[in-house]
Amino acid sequence: MLRNKTIVLGVSGGIAAYKAAAICSKLAQAGADVRVIMTESATRFIAPLTFQTLSRHDVIVDTFDEKDASVVSHIDLADRADLVVVAPATANIIGKMAHGLADDMLSTTLLATTAPVLVAPAMNVHMYAHPAVQANMETLARRGVLFVEPGTGQLACGYVGKGRLEEPEQIVEAIHRFFMEKGQLRGKKVLVTAGGTVERIDPVRYLTNDSSGKMGYAIAEAARSMGAEVTLVTGKASLPVPEGVKAIHVESAQNMLEAVLERFPDSDIVIKAAAVADYRPAERAMQKIKKNEQEMTLTLVKNEDILQTIGRMKKHQYLVGFAAETERIDEYAMGKLLKKNCDLLVANDVTQEGAGFGTDTNVVRLYDKNGLVKSLPIMTKQGVARELLTLIAERTTKGEGTN
Ligand code: CTP
Repeated sequence: MLRNKTIVLGVSGGIAAYKAAAICSKLAQAGADVRVIMTESATRFIAPLTFQTLSRHDVIVDTFDEKDASVVSHIDLADRADLVVVAPATANIIGKMAHGLADDMLSTTLLATTAPVLVAPAMNVHMYAHPAVQANMETLARRGVLFVEPGTGQLACGYVGKGRLEEPEQIVEAIHRFFMEKGQLRGKKVLVTAGGTVERIDPVRYLTNDSSGKMGYAIAEAARSMGAEVTLVTGKASLPVPEGVKAIHVESAQNMLEAVLERFPDSDIVIKAAAVADYRPAERAMQKIKKNEQEMTLTLVKNEDILQTIGRMKKHQYLVGFAAETERIDEYAMGKLLKKNCDLLVANDVTQEGAGFGTDTNVVRLYDKNGLVKSLPIMTKQGVARELLTLIAERTTKGEGTN
């Protein structure tokens, strides 16, 4: 699968640099054209000759060491890469990437490349947990940089904790997965809804819910990285819009319905992760309501069910609904799938630890009209998004999705 792929392997200076040799070897064996760039400090841990022998190419350390006069090395490699992998990535190279610094061959290439980048951090547990490092990684993740998280265990510095470079097998597997997923949704128009709706009572008060938008945003980001053209119709969410995703900000369920209906005919896949309010105030006061009475009654009226509406309208679209439940998951999930004419339904038991609103992880079950398809273990919302989209990609290429 890695044949004809050029992978630039950036090795920065940490004790785990020796593990990069195994990564280099496995990638070369899988048929990839591996070009290694080392930082000066990486060469203190492992000799360039090791990588040169394994990759059968010169290893570049110095930006000014131009071996081929017909090209400028850092631009040439940056342009040719199908993927740039930084393993191990120290706190320093992560910081440079986040801030756009380019003072050696590796950081310059990383700045010059438009290829996707995968980073496998490795450092001391406290360095990894430092807010500066975490903030830098968040910045990079938002820009679409992929991460292979470090493992937990005995670190070279004597500490036990998170910071150990993930095993070479896992990193190589992540690289395989990247090439497998990339382009799986190319040419598809994906419409995602996310976040919670806001139902106004008066100009300063509203009804809403605990949705953070994390699940929907993760889906939008993963769909884009799999090659789709993604539109995100988002209610209230305190997250930055992922790069390359077109966002439409809405407030109420009615606004969301209008935005979805406008884009629905032209969409191939619609994923409704938003937490839509079932009811809205019957009347919205134009001025701030004064506290005159001892009691106040708020009359609510039902919102139109967006998913059910588009479920009735759907033609070629592949429709994915969500269900947040606290009991009888299978029964309620199947009920919603059939009632709303979905092709797939993602259900989560929001009472479970690590699932539901606001968390970074989720525990979901996927259903189609024949019943349970898959029960996923606890994983990050990004992980759930990738699993979900891989299944959708498989099913839509098989031509499913029509009534
Ligand atoms: N949904 C929608 N429009 C609504 C309510 C819900 O499109 N007015 C969608 C959600 O985006 C989600 C699915 O329907 O994809 C299920 O939402 P959920 O709140 O779990 O279910 P409800 O149908 O509202 O049922 P209930 O609240 O009774 O469990």
